[in-house]
Amino acid sequence: MVLITDILKAKRDSLSLSSDDLYKFATGIADGTVTSYQASAFLMASYINGLDSEETLALTMAMRDSGTIVQWDDHPRPLADKHSTGGVGDKMSLVLAPLAASIGISIPMISGRGLGHTGGTLDKLESIPGFNVNLSLEDFRKQVFDLGVCMIGQTKQLAPADRVLYSLRDATSTVTSIPLICASILSKKLAENPDILVFDVKCGTGAFMQNRKDAEELAQTLVQISKLSGKKASALVTSMNKPIGLCSGNTLEVQESLDILNNKGPADSTELTVELVAEMAMHAGIENGRELCLENLANGKAMDLFAKMVEAQGGDLEAFEALSLAPVTLDVRAARTGYWCGPDALVVGKAVRKLGGGRYRVEDEVNPLVGWEQEVLCGSPVEDGQILGRVHAADRESAEEATRTISESFTWDSPSDPLIFEEIR
Ligand code: URA
Repeated sequence: MVLITDILKAKRDSLSLSSDDLYKFATGIADGTVTSYQASAFLMASYINGLDSEETLALTMAMRDSGTIVQWDDHPRPLADKHSTGGVGDKMSLVLAPLAASIGISIPMISGRGLGHTGGTLDKLESIPGFNVNLSLEDFRKQVFDLGVCMIGQTKQLAPADRVLYSLRDATSTVTSIPLICASILSKKLAENPDILVFDVKCGTGAFMQNRKDAEELAQTLVQISKLSGKKASALVTSMNKPIGLCSGNTLEVQESLDILNNKGPADSTELTVELVAEMAMHAGIENGRELCLENLANGKAMDLFAKMVEAQGGDLEAFEALSLAPVTLDVRAARTGYWCGPDALVVGKAVRKLGGGRYRVEDEVNPLVGWEQEVLCGSPVEDGQILGRVHAADRESAEEATRTISESFTWDSPSDPLIFEEIR
């Protein structure tokens, strides 16, 4: 019988682990027979000595199999999900899910909360009064059969080994290992059991991956391991040097999502969402996915599905639309005429978190109303004195601090990044 200490010794000495070793390890993590100090040693050895693609695949599958795998049996449509590695102003999921459902792709989406300076889909959805992200897996499955779309939070049954390892990675400084990130993300996505996975790998100051090389490596690994596990998969490596769209902050981002769904959203966030759904459509064998998306944004079908999903999950869109603004709003004006390239994504993400829109500790409450709202998109010509955007804050002091830090990060007159750096299939 293989001992956990033998597995640790092998990884410490840079030997390859077998699929059986990794199953034993992941099962032991989930049932508590592998201790947290052994798990931590495994993480550090894997961080330093790496995991090759066979080991990454085996670890991913073992972590997936540590819990329930959703069964779709005779589901009549292609099933897909999207994972974003996290950014600032990244509200794509809220639009993507009903939009994809409106063109015939079912979306069983399990999302997370804001992490560090990046926003989280669950926090955004919960800014809609009454919206319940805590459905059971049975209700989740039923809603996907009924409506073609459901958006919930992680449940205890899905990939429990990841919950343990994820909580240890921060404390052991092993977060930034590509195989560990890949196994963590994919174990949960594979437990949802869709046919198609599309990844939005963010790259830039406001992203987990700061440079193209790391972002491309993560994107390649996610696609490769997804394919090896039997899924259709592709990734877009997208820019996150500037916030995407006009709004960053939970309520503001839901408002922008409604604008996109009502076909009057900003060009960049609309385009990226459509491109991600078009990737899914390509894998699903749906021709002209992009055109169908544009049609369903224009004819209200995507908005209609979003409204049905909100209602099915207890949310009240009328109450959302009646929400008041944060107590203080403070405009920011252009101090010159020129080509405004916008604020830095990381600065905005941190400023929104400091305003109360994100968390420093898991137990922190999020203030849904605060955030940064732009009047103009990054990369636009502006006149001296023109309003560029405004901070929404709980009080004057925090509003002034956020306007100062965000304004200090503005750049001018430089070429902007393309929205999508690269497609990986
Ligand atoms: N999201 C995850 O689920 N896991 C990671 O390791 C990083 C992002």
